[in-house]
Amino acid sequence: MKILVTGGAGYIGSHVCKALQKKNFQVIVFDNLSSGKKNFIKWGKFIKGDLTNFNQIKNVISKTKPDAVIHLAGKISVEESEKEIFSYYKNNFFSTLNLLEAMKINGVKKIVFSSTASVYGNQKKMPISEKASTNPLNIYSKTKFFSEQLIKDYNRIHGINFFILRYFNAAGADFDCEIGEIHDPETHLIPLAIEALLNNKKFTVFGRNYNTHDKTAVRDYIHVNDLASAHILALKKNNKRNKSNVLNLGSEKGMSVLEVLNLLEKSKNIKIKKKFYKKRKGDMPKLISSSKLANKVLGWKAKISKEDILNSAYSWHYKILKKYEKKNT
Ligand SMILES: NC(=O)c1ccc[n+]([C@@H]2O[C@H](COP(=O)([O-])OP(=O)(O)OC[C@H]3O[C@@H](n4cnc5c(N)ncnc54)[C@H](O)[C@@H]3O)[C@@H](O)[C@H]2O)c1
Repeated sequence: MKILVTGGAGYIGSHVCKALQKKNFQVIVFDNLSSGKKNFIKWGKFIKGDLTNFNQIKNVISKTKPDAVIHLAGKISVEESEKEIFSYYKNNFFSTLNLLEAMKINGVKKIVFSSTASVYGNQKKMPISEKASTNPLNIYSKTKFFSEQLIKDYNRIHGINFFILRYFNAAGADFDCEIGEIHDPETHLIPLAIEALLNNKKFTVFGRNYNTHDKTAVRDYIHVNDLASAHILALKKNNKRNKSNVLNLGSEKGMSVLEVLNLLEKSKNIKIKKKFYKKRKGDMPKLISSSKLANKVLGWKAKISKEDILNSAYSWHYKILKKYEKKNT
């Protein structure tokens, strides 16, 4: 089976490509390298291109004739999205429209889409199931929410089958340390905490008066390889017209900011210096997934422990830091 992976040079995309090739899928990476890394493309053929260019993606699909598309490409910063409305809608929403139309023209009938738990907005009831109402609170989440609607319309009208996968907090790295999490600017908790630990810098905790057990925000961290395995199961699962699925992908367990820091400190036997700052606008106190539906539909469950999430992330960051130090000495 031949799979076109948009955003395959990115953090999650590269892990998906590695997992795909291990399972003998033929992989084609389509990426504009805006945030992706060329040295993350090791498991498939690379085509440099931009999804905002309709003719480009149409011609690539026409030439490569994939059996399915995994669509991970996108801009991912909530903060940036609030300042750059045009580029976020263009890059995330308009790109998805281009991709779906190019798939329709070329008769490609299956898409697996990277969506986000943030489409749920603020929820009182935990864990969050797919039945919860959607209420995206920022531009980034809205671009994902509206892309979901587009995908459902292309399913209804053109019979393109889909799995919409709503990731909770992707974390951790490849256990061979070949690829890992790297964003610029980095906004994710675990890489920032590791950076603070390795560089003996202060780590900023946003908010210490949340309504949670230790007053800091709680998130559901899911290892990137667990996410990758869900994509493979979604590709293998045959969906009939109008029988496509929206699935949450999380571990069903939460960790607070302080719990993540404590666990890291304990495993590395180093104290992380902390400073506390007021909570950021729009940050939710708690987000925990119910992944019962993914289990029922795909037979999927997160398997990788929180300790392995943190250890794999640490090993990757340590390797990158040492490489950087070598280059600069
Ligand atoms: N990281 C998370 O915790 C998380 C959580 C929920 C959802 N997601 C979604 O998962 C996907 C992957 O996230 P990531 O963390 O790997 O981000 P990433 O920035 O590492 O990867 C995104 C990739 O998309 C490419 N890209 C962006 N715009 C493009 C365009 N117009 N044409 C072609 N390529 C383009 C980038 O170059 C990059 O390789 C995103 O869609 C993101 O919204 C991520």
